[in-house]
Amino acid sequence: MQLYWEVFGEVFSTDDILKNDFNPVYRFDDQLVDGAIIDIGCGQTSPLIQYADLSDRRLIGIDNEAFQLEKLRSRMTEIAGAESEKWELITSDIQHEALPAGKYAMVILYNILHFFSLKECSELMGEIYGHLITGSLISICVHSTKYYKNDPADPHNNEYFKHYFTQEDLDLLLPYKNFERIYSADVERVYGKKDHDVAQMWGERIITAMNIKDGRVKADIRRQGKEKLTEAEIICVYKKL
Ligand SMILES: C[S@@+](CC[C@H](N)C(=O)[O-])C[C@H]1O[C@@H](n2cnc3c(N)ncnc32)[C@H](O)[C@@H]1O
Repeated sequence: MQLYWEVFGEVFSTDDILKNDFNPVYRFDDQLVDGAIIDIGCGQTSPLIQYADLSDRRLIGIDNEAFQLEKLRSRMTEIAGAESEKWELITSDIQHEALPAGKYAMVILYNILHFFSLKECSELMGEIYGHLITGSLISICVHSTKYYKNDPADPHNNEYFKHYFTQEDLDLLLPYKNFERIYSADVERVYGKKDHDVAQMWGERIITAMNIKDGRVKADIRRQGKEKLTEAEIICVYKKL
């Protein structure tokens, strides 16, 4: 995916990212308790950009791709005017390395959990739980079962995205005896023009990088780049009781 995110970084300005950010958690950030804001699988499109100028808050971004964190750092610097010592942008594979010590006021899990099986999600939630305090917020966005690639009849269905979620799946991961669900949305949308530009440019970069000469393969990649991109997701905010 490195080529994709490189193209994305060229097409989407920091301003574009802020305008395209539909994360509902900002509606609740007046309730933030003490502790860090941590974005797990933050990429370069994290709410940490919005929060970069919060000088008194520990901000943690975790991603297993160092180039994404470099890009995120430069975007945060753009907003805050200068780098802060309170930013911890850590290259780490969350499936194999422990989360940073300390208490978390807000945990962002955006477009990451569908890369893991439900069992792996449950293990990760167990680890996160140890860092929460009463009032901690968890903001989640996952591909729902309505996602266009979800085809349970296909034996390869869960090879790339390991799980497509229902609301019940999330409510089992964050059970009502420990969490209050304070926001939930079942979203279906068509992507905007810039996303389609990225998809087409990405196709061209793949053709160049892989030195693809076969005309049929090139045409197939270009056709895929022109497909209408749609999203089906469940977005939730939970609060630790
Ligand atoms: C689809 S992107 C989502 C980026 C951002 N959260 C958003 O919603 O736009 C998934 C991100 O998770 C990172 N990622 C995937 N598996 C990971 C893992 N095991 N540990 C840490 N980061 C991971 C990828 O590098 C990528 O930046």
